[in-house]
Amino acid sequence: MTADNDDQVFEELLEYLRRSRGFDFTGYKRSSLIRRVRKQMQTHEMDSFAEYLDYLQVRPEEFLPLFNTILINVTSFFRDAGAWKYLRNQALPRLLSGKLEHSPIRIWSAGCASGEEAYTLAMILAESLGAEQFRQRVKIYATDVDEDALTDARHAMYSTNALQGLPIELRDKYFEPLADHWVFRADLRRGVIFGRHDLVQDAPISRLDLLVCRNTLMYFNSETQTKILDRFHFALNDTGILFWAKPKCC
Ligand SMILES: C[S@@+](CC[C@H](N)C(=O)[O-])C[C@H]1O[C@@H](n2cnc3c(N)ncnc32)[C@H](O)[C@@H]1O
Repeated sequence: MTADNDDQVFEELLEYLRRSRGFDFTGYKRSSLIRRVRKQMQTHEMDSFAEYLDYLQVRPEEFLPLFNTILINVTSFFRDAGAWKYLRNQALPRLLSGKLEHSPIRIWSAGCASGEEAYTLAMILAESLGAEQFRQRVKIYATDVDEDALTDARHAMYSTNALQGLPIELRDKYFEPLADHWVFRADLRRGVIFGRHDLVQDAPISRLDLLVCRNTLMYFNSETQTKILDRFHFALNDTGILFWAKPKCC
């Protein structure tokens, strides 16, 4: 099969995923997308997209491992510690000082994976405001397309290993031990709301003070990144902050 033909079949495969599963990968960067689909094909010893498309059409159970290979959920608490330090010590005090006392604080963690980023936000907000003010004022909307990751996030239960990057005093203040795991405090958890949201297809959450989108935009091609950034601009209040990791390409 020629390269052109191969490209065409790959686009047909994406179209099939869109039609049959409502999942639109067409705005994702082709190079990494192809690499990931090939990785999954290798588990079945296939090297032709046409053969894999046939396989997907008769084996619906193949969608889950394929999506899990494409949607990389790697994350951690205080991932890229320097950036979080800046948010906590520089950006957040400025944001909070510009808010009226008792006014609500609306935050969106977009592409939150299994929740570590959203709970990191909850901890730094609770540290800045105190638990009582946090409970009264803060709403953290945390979204992802990956339902399995969201289920883990809602459980708020992490292994000791997953908590490694977290200072011990924060662990002891915000997590309760349960068997050999740690569960995020229930009273603060109520301020963290998880939901499915597709950055490519769904309308953004609005009136935001802080929008956190890290290690996610780099999956998309530049056209899709621009569309998403336009929506982020619309979603933020005039004084709102976008806290993101700039995609490597731009
Ligand atoms: C590498 S994780 C980043 C997690 C976290 N933000 C961090 O920095 O640690 C990327 C996340 O983006 C999510 N994702 C991929 N495509 C998406 C889309 N179209 N809409 C929303 N989330 C998406 C994946 O499911 C994955 O959980």
